Amino acid sequence: MTQQHPTGKGVAAPDISARDDAAALDEIEAIFTRFGAELYGEGITQLHHGLQAAALAASEGASETLILAALLHDIGHLVEQADDAFGYHKHDQSGADYLEPLFGRAVSEPVRLHVVAKRYLCAVQADYFAKLSPASVYTLGKQGGPMTAEECRAFEDNPWCAEAIKLRRWDDSGKIEGLTVLPLAHYRPLMARWIHASNGITA
Ligand SMILES: [Fe+2]
Repeated sequence: MTQQHPTGKGVAAPDISARDDAAALDEIEAIFTRFGAELYGEGITQLHHGLQAAALAASEGASETLILAALLHDIGHLVEQADDAFGYHKHDQSGADYLEPLFGRAVSEPVRLHVVAKRYLCAVQADYFAKLSPASVYTLGKQGGPMTAEECRAFEDNPWCAEAIKLRRWDDSGKIEGLTVLPLAHYRPLMARWIHASNGITA
């Protein structure tokens, strides 16, 4: 049985017991078709932002799961109602929760930590804050601001810390207006290779 996503944004939640891989991939494409044109305070759409982040990850030879994380890192904005013009402030958690049953933790955990990684980089890298987009500066305030020293140490102990920082840098750089990128369809074979793979669920 298909569940409705509890937020009411109109997207069905993943129901891995009732869906085959193709249906789950169709749903992801439908999410981007329906909501990918949203802007969330940046100069490019959600879809193009994800495509740019994925292209940057691929250009640096990232793993396939990290390319997928880059592509899908902001899907939490698209499956939840926006808090304001800058999107859903807890999109890191909603996105990771959406992705984990589909692609496993190698995709979901960098996504879960990509906002935390911004808070970390603001604390440890002197010039990082100055390079953030205005939208990222605004949302930083909503997300708790720069980490404390104690929070930094805890983040550094997280096994997904390095992947989250990589994803964060592609996130920050993938906001170039007018850049030509490969379409979402280019990534369908990659998504198909990894969907349900980590937990063995195939239907
Ligand atoms: Fe992003």
